[in-house]
Amino acid sequence: MASSVANERVIPTLDSLTPGQINAIRRIPPHEAAKPTPANVTRPTSIFFSEERYAQEQARIFRRLPVPVMLSAALAPGVAIANDAYGISLILTRTKNGTARAFLNTCQHKGSKLLEDEQPHKVPRLVCPFHAWSYGLDGELVGVPRQEIFSDFCKANYKLAELPCRDAGGFIWVHLDRHSAGDFSTLNGEIVGDLEALNLHHMHVYHQESFDLKANWKLVLEPFMEPYHVQRLHAKSVAPLFADVPSVVDMLDHHIRIITGKVQFEPAILDVPGENIHKTVTHAYIVFPNISIITSPYYISVMIIVPQGVDRSRVEYSMLTREAPDNPKAHQLFADSLRIVLDVFGNEDFRAAVISQAGLAAGGLDKMTYGGLEDVIPKYYEVLEAELG
Ligand SMILES: [Fe+2]
Repeated sequence: MASSVANERVIPTLDSLTPGQINAIRRIPPHEAAKPTPANVTRPTSIFFSEERYAQEQARIFRRLPVPVMLSAALAPGVAIANDAYGISLILTRTKNGTARAFLNTCQHKGSKLLEDEQPHKVPRLVCPFHAWSYGLDGELVGVPRQEIFSDFCKANYKLAELPCRDAGGFIWVHLDRHSAGDFSTLNGEIVGDLEALNLHHMHVYHQESFDLKANWKLVLEPFMEPYHVQRLHAKSVAPLFADVPSVVDMLDHHIRIITGKVQFEPAILDVPGENIHKTVTHAYIVFPNISIITSPYYISVMIIVPQGVDRSRVEYSMLTREAPDNPKAHQLFADSLRIVLDVFGNEDFRAAVISQAGLAAGGLDKMTYGGLEDVIPKYYEVLEAELG
């Protein structure tokens, strides 16, 4: 009984959303009236393979602005997790009182990594494998074996190197530059409220999987900004669920909210009380700089797309469900959904990014052209270019 009550509480109805989200949904026209505005916007294809551009993105975006390292829901109280995705070894912790913190994965004795894998460790202390110096999850040095061998030694001077960190909108955000002033202003405003309304931070992490792709990170992100490919690339999979129409798009400062009516959408459906809104409407977000979020009726897909080189990316895919499956029907539904989504993303969207990268490497295209069902992509690039300076 308790579980069905919990279920009802978290069903995403129109009423559970923010005024901005509701307003966007109310602006979805009936499909027959939804006409794309023709466009012809271009970008040089060198943005996907120039080493100089890649270095500029690293310096101006990924090392200067806060980056998402993991889902808040994946970091339980009392747990430490290392993460090397951004090329700097980090440890994220959540102390017993719920505060998330980020440290460099560097022992203050001889610099050793404290955690050597990226698994969650539910531990009271981080113990260095080398000489067993130990640290609390708050970064304080708490134990030094044979401390008497060090003269003039004060543990308080040997805290782990901490990075500015914020838990916002369902993600743990970190400044990778240790000396950064910790400006998180890209996360102020409407985006955090939107993500909280989707309940990301309280959802159940049903599955996580990493993909290593031979494609520039922006080519991996692009399909999640445009509906144009859906009826084509996904013709044999999920295309029948979606309509070939433009989305309602709102810029939320650096971030993009993309609301689309699914194939069975009609405005009258919005007035059915208690209806699961994600059955008829897809909420997608591009959270700057490198997160894609897409809702489905029973789960939300989240991808953090991390550059590994100019033509390599690591995608951290997570499937979030409203709660852990607690009956055979839910187990089956989630398992089937996972199989389908991994097949669609893995074998269709990610493959599209990889074949674009390979085709561009052949040198046959100088500029990329974006049309009217792809107009979110250049909007995103305008934000990116403004930050690149
Ligand atoms: Fe797609």
